Amino acid sequence: MPDRVLVTREIPEAGLRVLDAFDVTVLHERPPGRDELLEAVGGASGVLSTATETMDGEVMDAAGEALRVIANMAVGYDNVDVVAATERGVVVTNTPGVLDETTADVAFMLLLATARRLGEGERLLRAGGWEWWGPKQLMGPDVWGKKLGIVGFGRIGQSVARRAKGFGMDVLYHNRSRREEAERELAASYLDLDELLETADFVSIHTPLTDDTHHLIGETELRRMKPEAVLVNTSRGPVVDEAALAEALADGQIFAAGLDVYEDEPEVHPGLLELENVVLAPHIGSASVETRDRMAVLAAENLAAVLCGEDPKTPVDA
Ligand code: DGY
Repeated sequence: MPDRVLVTREIPEAGLRVLDAFDVTVLHERPPGRDELLEAVGGASGVLSTATETMDGEVMDAAGEALRVIANMAVGYDNVDVVAATERGVVVTNTPGVLDETTADVAFMLLLATARRLGEGERLLRAGGWEWWGPKQLMGPDVWGKKLGIVGFGRIGQSVARRAKGFGMDVLYHNRSRREEAERELAASYLDLDELLETADFVSIHTPLTDDTHHLIGETELRRMKPEAVLVNTSRGPVVDEAALAEALADGQIFAAGLDVYEDEPEVHPGLLELENVVLAPHIGSASVETRDRMAVLAAENLAAVLCGEDPKTPVDA
């Protein structure tokens, strides 16, 4: 009997093809409800999950003794209780390295769109409100030549830095530990977080969500930023205190923000929805055709490897 595998969402075909040898159940396009997940997971040896499913001890116990691997189709794995998995002998994997450039594109897209007020301009035009070209209309700060502060200087943060170099920007970064090789390669300067927030014209967040990074950017940090500064977040919503951000944007404490992720997806803080100076994207950082194929294939290969008694390519450290 082939091992039972649960795929919690519809994923690209390329990933499903890797799982041909298993008895695969694919749920549907929308995220499963909690009860549905608990029921569907019963008897699975492997689960291919996405960031929308909370994979905790209860889900693992509902899967039962057979469960050997949770392959998360995301680089972030804050939705998986890795400690609970380790206690149960379940391997957890993620999909690092295949989405860096694609996510960096979206961070840069938000940075440009936010600074140059693209969302606001498009809303004006579509509503029939664009009456003339104006010498003072929709002005925003230049991006080229400015200081970009990158918080979290891993693979994605460094890919953003490479883009910034093409725009003649000065790259500043903050990271838990210094990345001296990347610093040299990208001529980036290390600053502590407070200094970075006080100095940067643009701040782009690329840290994973952990207990230490929850609300890393809150009221105090937003107050440190320049009034003309722009904040971009493509990492995880809870890294930024959304209520504090909505207030800072409404009060003009900072110029604008570009967000791809939210504290309680798919909910967005109502204060943000009312503001013109925020560009809101629906968590599309990795949503290119090629990258979603790569993520699905890597997650499926990791899952298949564990079920075949081999080492997965990208396990998560417990
Ligand atoms: C990731 O890979 O972490 C993306 O945010 C999709 O969940």
